[in-house]
Parts: sequence; structure tokens; C-alpha cells
Amino acid sequence: MSRLLEGKVAVVTGAGQGIGRGHALELAKHGAKVLVNDLGSSVHGEGTGRAADDTVALIVERGGEAAANYANVADYAAAGEMVAQAVDTFGQLDILVNNAGIVRDSAIWNMDEADFDSVIAVHLKGAWAPSKHAAVHWRERNKANGAPVGGRIINTTSPSGIGCHSIGVSHHAGSRASNSAASNAAHRESASALARAGGRLEPVDLAIHGELIDSADF
Ligand SMILES: NC(=O)c1ccc[n+]([C@@H]2O[C@H](COP(=O)([O-])OP(=O)(O)OC[C@H]3O[C@@H](n4cnc5c(N)ncnc54)[C@H](O)[C@@H]3O)[C@@H](O)[C@H]2O)c1
Repeated sequence: MSRLLEGKVAVVTGAGQGIGRGHALELAKHGAKVLVNDLGSSVHGEGTGRAADDTVALIVERGGEAAANYANVADYAAAGEMVAQAVDTFGQLDILVNNAGIVRDSAIWNMDEADFDSVIAVHLKGAWAPSKHAAVHWRERNKANGAPVGGRIINTTSPSGIGCHSIGVSHHAGSRASNSAASNAAHRESASALARAGGRLEPVDLAIHGELIDSADF
């Protein structure tokens, strides 16, 4: 099998299980070194844990290279430390997959303010903060050596972010549509400033269809 990502370094958020784990395993299969992020929370975003360790173990067992990170991606400083960990551990960062997500579905008339705030924090700020820190790394790298950087940002979003709504997702749909808007704005910026300097952000929104919560069995 051809290995497309030899020499690349990826961060995948929310990769301790489910779709994020799938992203991480596939990236590692293609030769990328992977920093596996996961807060280890419940599906509702409560608590913490070490689920990232399980994905790291799977990657290493299959001959890949990986390390664990347990940051809350909605924490701006912790997101910066996560990017720094990837650079310190593997030398650079090339690919960021913003995948961490939580579920607090509820019809709008029943939805608590805390549920709204939590979903917006994890989905929107939790994608923006790592992306911002990655963009800083890519800009600095390019300025240091003048070579093209070619960073990539991939967002796991949802059909509800593009108008295919199910019940109880007014916060989720808003956060996912905002992911696309924020990514497109960053893409336009990178197409001017970063591209002039030899770099480029390529946001790709992966809209996942299916029932939430049931994690894929990878
Ligand atoms: N599964 C689906 O059918 C579906 C459908 C549409 C969109 N999505 C999106 O795909 C992504 C992954 O879904 P999944 O089904 O694999 O979910 P999952 O619950 O199996 O995994 C999500 C992971 O994110 C982690 N996480 C939560 N908050 C975090 C935070 N603040 N910082 C770091 N990690 C955090 C959790 O600990 C968990 O391990 C989510 O963003 C979700 O919104 C999933």
C-alpha cells in the first residue's frame, strides 16, 4: 500500500474513540505521526479520562508513531499547548483534524443555557482555538525558512450545519454552520497572507451522516 503521509505530523482532536479514532488510525496507516487528543469526557461533555491512551496503543501496536494529549480543545491556552506538544514531540505540525464533539440535544424550548454554551464552546471555539495556534505555527515556520508549509485543517462537522436538521440541534446546527464560515474565512486569509509567504490552509468540512453517540467500531 502506498503511504501518502510519510514525514507528516497530525493532531486529531476527540480521537480517543469513534470517528476521531478512525481519523487517527487512517492517518497513522499512511505514515503520519499522530498526536491523539481527547479530554475523555462523557458523550455529554462531562468528566475527564484517558481514552486517548487507547488510540495511541492501537497505533503503536500497528507499527505507527503516536502520543497522547488530554486537553480540552475549548481552552485556548490548552489548545496552544497541544499544538506545541505536537511540534516538540514530532518536530512540526502539518495536519489538524478538528473532530471533538459532544451531544446535548434538546428542543429549543427545553434547552438549557448551559447546554447551548457547552456545545458552542466545544464545537466552535474548540475548532477555532487549535486552528489559530496551528496557523501561528505555520506562519512562523514559513517565516523562519521561507519554504512552503502546506498546512491542512479538516473539520468534522454535521449535516445539521448545512441545513439537514434533526430535532433538538439548534445549538449544534449553529456551531457547525459557524465552523464552515470560520474555516472559509481562514481559508481566504491563508490564500492571501499565508500563500504569499508560501503556506496555505485548506479547510475541508466532513459532514458525517448517521446517528450520534454510537461510536464506530474501529
Ligand atoms: N456519530 C455521528 O453520527 C455524528 C454525526 C454528525 C456529526 N458528528 C460529529 O463527529 C464528531 C465525532 O463524533 P463521534 O460520534 O465519534 O463522537 P464520540 O462521542 O464517539 O467521540 C467524541 C470524542 O470527543 C471527546 N471530546 C469531547 N469534548 C472534548 C473537548 N472539549 N476536548 C477534547 N476532546 C473532547 C470525547 O471525550 C470523545 O472521546 C463530533 O464532533 C460530532 O459532532 C458525529
